[in-house]
Formats: sequence, structure tokens, C-alpha cells
Amino acid sequence: MSFHKTSVSFVLISVTIWFIIFLFCPRQLRAQLGTTPNIKHIVVGRCYSYITLVNPSLRYDCEEIWRQFEEAVVHQSSCNVTVEDYYHMFYAMPQTWPCDRFLFWSKTRTLMHSYAAVLRHLWTLEDTLVGYMFNDLIWCGQDEDSGFDFSSCPEWSACRNHPVHSLWRQASQNFAEMACGNITVLLNGSIVNAFNRRSMFGSVELDGLNPRRVNYVNIKVVTNLEGPSIESCSEGSIMDLIQILQSRGFRWTCTDNDQTLMILQCIQNPEQSSCQTCANKNLTQKEPHI
Ligand SMILES: *[C@@H]1O[C@H](CO)[C@@H](O)[C@H](O)[C@H]1NC(C)=O
Ligand SMILES: *[C@@H]1O[C@H](CO)[C@@H](O)[C@H](O)[C@H]1NC(C)=O
Ligand SMILES: *[C@@H]1O[C@H](CO)[C@@H](O)[C@H](O)[C@H]1NC(C)=O
Ligand SMILES: *[C@@H]1O[C@H](CO)[C@@H](O)[C@H](O)[C@H]1NC(C)=O
Repeated sequence: MSFHKTSVSFVLISVTIWFIIFLFCPRQLRAQLGTTPNIKHIVVGRCYSYITLVNPSLRYDCEEIWRQFEEAVVHQSSCNVTVEDYYHMFYAMPQTWPCDRFLFWSKTRTLMHSYAAVLRHLWTLEDTLVGYMFNDLIWCGQDEDSGFDFSSCPEWSACRNHPVHSLWRQASQNFAEMACGNITVLLNGSIVNAFNRRSMFGSVELDGLNPRRVNYVNIKVVTNLEGPSIESCSEGSIMDLIQILQSRGFRWTCTDNDQTLMILQCIQNPEQSSCQTCANKNLTQKEPHI
């Protein structure tokens, strides 16, 4: 009973505190949705980190890239930054990549990270300089040409030319146009429209791929261990993707539930029944005798 009372009063106190915060600090609450605090330090710091630690062979002027970025964002209204506004910034950070390394994905972000971490030769947009610098950040300008708006930014869906969306659009397009050799596409078979024409992959990257540069498009469809299994290489929107690839002259392969991808999911969730085939082999019996 007293435990119950304690938790009730705890809840009451929490609610009161939140109410007070809400009453007196509305700007701070909204600030979560504005430009990421310390954005300049983060962006410039990540740039130095990239050219110093991640890829020391590269020569870029991080301060110049920041200047071009700021120039693109703060002189426009917060809903009116086009991909063209970023041209100077991208011009300051050209990057090319060796073939056979490109990994594209849609709605498989978490798994994509473990996959790229295990298959170290695969690189995603987040491994490029621009992806590395701006990952997970939010930004927008203010209407009166007075710097970044740290209190609030519009939703992506609220504007045609959202500053964050435009940058990723151009970054994705550059990444796709650069792609060569075999490329891998990771799609989520547990959702309807695994291949979505409105996703970044479906609306920008696919169109940017060049059939003369790309040798094979290797599609991997992965479903959640616990299901559902909605789409596959022979079901649903992925067939539309294959159709588009074929009509544009790409060679392709498509794999359902690639073994590496299933094992990666099992590592995170070994109790799943679909993971038990491995566990049942009773690995303890195979311990070497030293
Ligand atoms: C958007 O920007 C363009 C050029 O950068 C300008 O011509 C246009 O008037 C702007 N539109 C709005 C609604 O601010
Ligand atoms: C597929 O999408 C669902 C819904 O967005 C998500 O919860 C799930 O983690 C995704 N599966 C994989 C394998 O990425
Ligand atoms: C490219 O993909 C095709 C089809 O999956 C495969 O036969 C070939 O070995 C791959 N080449 C390289 C260099 O990975
Ligand atoms: C696994 O091996 C151990 C030791 O050999 C044995 O005691 C156990 O019953 C085995 N478990 C299964 C599920 O086969």
C-alpha cells in the first residue's frame, strides 16, 4: 500500500514538475525541434575527425565547408533551401570511392549498421564525409537572415525545400551517381512497400544509378525474425524494383533472408525460435580439448 502511495506521489510530483517546466520554459521545450545546439562545433569537429582519423589521406578545408553550408542555410527562409543552394558546399567536398562497396538501404537502418560493421568493405552514405558530418543533425535558418533557428524548425513534410531534406537529397544523389561495380540494396520484407518510390532510395538513388557503371544490383530482402513476412523477391513492391532495374538494363540478383543478415539478427535476439536451429546443434560438444 505504501509502495503504491509512493509511486502515486512520485507521479504527481513528476507531472507537476513537467507542468512547471512547460509553463515557464516553453522555449527550451521547443528547442528540441530546432537546429541542433552547438551545430557548428559538431559539424566542423566531425569534419576534422573524418580527415584526421577516419580517412587521413583526404585533404579538405573543413572551415570552408562550414562557411558554404552556413551560406546555403541562413540566407534562405527556413522552408526554402533547395539542393542548388548546397552546390558550393558539395563542390568543396568532392569524394570518390572504390567500386563494389556501395550499400543502399531503406527501412533497415539498425540492421544496416550491424551489417556494415561486420562486412567492413561495405560503405553507406553515412561513411562519406557529408554523411558523417551531418548524420542525425537538424538545422534551419530564420526568415530574417539572422543565423540558425535554434528554437524550432519546420517538419520535413511542411515544406517542399526543407534544408535538411535538400542536403540529404543531394548527398544521396551524389552517392548513387558514384556507385560502381556490384552494389548491395538492403530492403525490409516485413513492411508493405519494401521498395517505396517515395523513399530516398526509390526517389533519388535508384534514378542516380548508372547501368554502365554498375555491374550487378544485389538486392537482399530481410524480414524480422518474429515476422511478418510481407514482401520478398517474388512478392509485392520488390518485383516493381526488379522491373525497373530490368527495363534500365541493370543486371541484378535478389536474395530472401540472406544467412549473414539472419545471423546478425539472431545475435541480437538469440531466443527467437527461428534462431534455435543453430543453438540446437549443441555447440558445447564441439569445444576443443586443450
Ligand atoms: C525561395 O528562394 C528563391 C530563390 O532562392 C526565391 O526566388 C523565392 O522567392 C523564395 N520563395 C520564398 C517563398 O521565400
Ligand atoms: C522493418 O521495419 C519495421 C518497421 O519500420 C522495423 O520495426 C523493423 O526493425 C525493420 N526490420 C528490419 C530487419 O530492419
Ligand atoms: C558481383 O555479383 C555477381 C552476382 O551476385 C557475382 O557473381 C560476382 O562474383 C560479384 N562480383 C564481385 C566482384 O563481387
Ligand atoms: C548438449 O550437450 C551436453 C553435454 O554433452 C548435454 O548434457 C546436453 O544434454 C546437450 N543438450 C542438447 C539440447 O542436446
